[in-house]
Amino acid sequence: MRKRFIAGNWKMNNGPSATVTFMDKFATALKSSNEIISNINGGKMNVAVFAPSISLCSAVKARGDAPVIVGGENVHWEKSGAFTGEISVPMLKEVGCTHVIIGHSERRHIFRETDEELHKKILAALDGGLTPVLCTGELLEEREAGKAFDVIKNQLLADLKDLDPQTVADKIIIAYEPVWAIGTGKTASKEDAEEVCKFIRKLLGDTFGEGTAAKVLILYGGSVKPENTADILSQTDIDGVLVGGASLKPDSFLAIAKAAVR
Ligand code: PGA
Repeated sequence: MRKRFIAGNWKMNNGPSATVTFMDKFATALKSSNEIISNINGGKMNVAVFAPSISLCSAVKARGDAPVIVGGENVHWEKSGAFTGEISVPMLKEVGCTHVIIGHSERRHIFRETDEELHKKILAALDGGLTPVLCTGELLEEREAGKAFDVIKNQLLADLKDLDPQTVADKIIIAYEPVWAIGTGKTASKEDAEEVCKFIRKLLGDTFGEGTAAKVLILYGGSVKPENTADILSQTDIDGVLVGGASLKPDSFLAIAKAAVR
């Protein structure tokens, strides 16, 4: 059975003091939820928060001994140098991050990051020992033009180019996030989400082998909230959720983690 991965993506929200307020409350509530703790300790689930770079130290410090993964929202592929405004894999590691989001649709579309750049970021993250959460997803017009599967295939094959099957199986998490469902309140139906996640698993099977496809974690993201989490997670090929807006408040993010317990 694959592990569930419940992740919050804070985007450009929660500075250092809001992060401490969130974590104080969230970590305490998490530790007192026997069902979540026994799922985490039993290897059935992970809970993660992806925070703005400036809040990462506060997040790691404030989580204390609570089992909450802390990750970055983006990273540069070089280790150091003249890249004003960027942060590197060793910097994320130094503050206690173990994971990093790569290729979120806001990075792809607002900041024009290319698959070539995302591929370099993935290699850098893996090389430095961070687990990439690679996002993929289609725009509304691409879905309406019947191109969703092609878009996702092109993104994933370019981003994961030349990786070995074992690495993809054990060290990469994929998040399917249809761009039209992000921050819009329009969740993909569980059938639509499953259809694409199944397609992704098959693509990974064709490319890296069945063993890899069976192991890799695939998340869904886009207007996930406490009320629709269980429904989304009931699908065979969906192993977790990447949550934006509903991860900003400790109560709603905790309710999502509770809905993922099994
Ligand atoms: P949302 O964002 O849950 O607010 O739709 C999801 C994401 O962008 O990761």
